[in-house]
Amino acid sequence: MPHSNRTPIDLAVIGGSGLYKFPGLENTTRHSVDTPYGPASGDVVLGNFAGMRVAFLARHGESHSLPPHRVNYRANVWALHSLGARRVIGVNAVGGIRADMGPRVIVVPDQLIDYTHGRTTSYCDVDGAEVRHIDFSEPYTDSLRRRLLAAARAAGVAAIDGGCYGATQGPRLETRAEIARMKRDGCDLVGMTGMPEAVLARELGLEYACLALVANFAAGCGDEAEISIEEIFAHLAAATAEVPRILAEWARA
Ligand code: HPA
Repeated sequence: MPHSNRTPIDLAVIGGSGLYKFPGLENTTRHSVDTPYGPASGDVVLGNFAGMRVAFLARHGESHSLPPHRVNYRANVWALHSLGARRVIGVNAVGGIRADMGPRVIVVPDQLIDYTHGRTTSYCDVDGAEVRHIDFSEPYTDSLRRRLLAAARAAGVAAIDGGCYGATQGPRLETRAEIARMKRDGCDLVGMTGMPEAVLARELGLEYACLALVANFAAGCGDEAEISIEEIFAHLAAATAEVPRILAEWARA
């Protein structure tokens, strides 16, 4: 459906595991966007939140039916862009590698390393497309990161400023050896969906930042011999509950 409501979008939010609907989004309309890359993960929901026009898209689908390697990242980012979004916050569940990044901690990373494979990572990956190389030294938009951090502080959330997000293929969690290697590489967090979303946003000229919600200590980083999936979802639910509060403060800034 073409975008019928032309009010500019202040902010787009891509919800990760645990965030399938945006609580408090009002007067919503749903937009099923036809993209040249196939279907997005679902409809983009446009609505009002805290005086802002917000576009929301559930990365894994509203019923969490898409594993990280099957998400159509190109279609998702394209859909938001084509509706007029220019600023995107990707909310991502992560495992913490660094000691101060335990369950329920919220981090706004400033770097990333991509360990994924077999995902389409560029809009150039189409026959006949012009090949464009883009700068990605700083994968996240600093002004957006700063505003997110300020909003988190205003909401009373002690979000950590910076950290390196390692993007893995999933859907399985990592081995201890893989996490030990990632730690040596300089990763502070591990998640499955941060890439290629970030680079696709950059290719389309969107501002993009990541709000990383720590659900567990990554393999070998906590006291447990095994990671409990139930605990992951419990911690994630607690951290996810902070997201609308943070974005309400964002709107006030
Ligand atoms: N690894 C990768 N992705 C994750 C994890 C993890 O330990 N926890 C939540 N998302």
